[in-house]
Amino acid sequence: MVRFSDRANSIRPTGVRRMFDLAGDDAIQFGLGEPDFQPPPLAIKAFSKAMEDGRNKYTTTAGLPELRKKIAETWHHRDSNLDESNVCITMSGTNALLDIFLALVNPGDNVLIPEPYFPLYPTDVVLCGGEANMYPCHFENGFVPTIEDLESRINENTIAILYNFPSNPTGGNVTEEQRDKLVKFAQENDLWLITDEVYDKIIYDSEHVSFLGAGYEKVIMINSFSKTFAMTGWRIGYLLSPDLEAMGQLTKMQYYVTACSNDAMQYAVLEALEKASDYPAEMCAEFKKRRDLICSRLNSMPNVSCNIPTGAFYVFPKFDIPGYNSEELAMKMLEGGVLCSPGTAFGQAGEGHLRFAYTICQEDISRGMDRVEEIILKLI
Ligand SMILES: Cc1ncc(COP(=O)(O)O)c(C=O)c1O
Repeated sequence: MVRFSDRANSIRPTGVRRMFDLAGDDAIQFGLGEPDFQPPPLAIKAFSKAMEDGRNKYTTTAGLPELRKKIAETWHHRDSNLDESNVCITMSGTNALLDIFLALVNPGDNVLIPEPYFPLYPTDVVLCGGEANMYPCHFENGFVPTIEDLESRINENTIAILYNFPSNPTGGNVTEEQRDKLVKFAQENDLWLITDEVYDKIIYDSEHVSFLGAGYEKVIMINSFSKTFAMTGWRIGYLLSPDLEAMGQLTKMQYYVTACSNDAMQYAVLEALEKASDYPAEMCAEFKKRRDLICSRLNSMPNVSCNIPTGAFYVFPKFDIPGYNSEELAMKMLEGGVLCSPGTAFGQAGEGHLRFAYTICQEDISRGMDRVEEIILKLI
């Protein structure tokens, strides 16, 4: 008899993937959150050179010291005490997330997770034996939780809270004042504060508001070069914490998950950080034009309202189309040649919403929005 674990049997593919698999070739792709740019050319050259130079071996588990030092320096404006001992290179943000829950969660523990959520969060917590304790992030509040909502969810088994700003899927972001309240909540309840800041370089109109260096040391950050340098396929990211005991435990988990990251690639990322630090801003200028375009198109459509995100490359508009839930609406969009994700792919709190990733050119965004408008007009 073929037998698989209850763990594997209980997990379903994400709604984002399911829609992607159903889409035809002519669908306009607002589905996947991956920049349509290539990594900086000098990083590609450095990658190839490092391989030719024989950098094709295991590295230490925490990664190349020069790269870790450089990463720590990029955060000195938030915490000048950081050095390489506060950084562990991982094979992506995805890998970093798993390390964190492996290191923190015991059976019976729960972790406060934002809803709508990046689909890996609750599943990873469950895979590590814990429970995902969802807190809502409402459209009306710019997708930032209220302290009352957090207080109503926390219980004696809550060990950590995860914040994700700018957010996937909502594009929601915090002001410094909101951040300070959220940090205070974690501190007062002695929770680990896990902060997913993989979109820290895709920021519009203002500076990134980090949870690092905000007066609380029990913080673990997930970050990644997937979005920063358009390196989604390379699979490289990092964990960072001011807490050295946490770094020791996280690095131990990293060893058992992948042993170490990719040798040559770490030299390429170092080159990008040293010589292409303007690259994310160039990408961001283009994303900002796309954001303005997609938001103005969506907000001009009947029965649709869309917040204007200040970071990441997603919009999460609300659709008020009687008789259609978000899954059915996403299917109607697909039939009309538009691939987007149903809001419920990111939890029940996403009902009534669709997620559009604006990681395609402005011309395609315009064509896609013409189709969305036509579909909406037929349905209302
Ligand atoms: C919020 C968030 N965190 C983490 C990740 C993981 O990124 P990666 O595994 O490509 O580093 C993503 C990817 O889409 C994301 O949106």
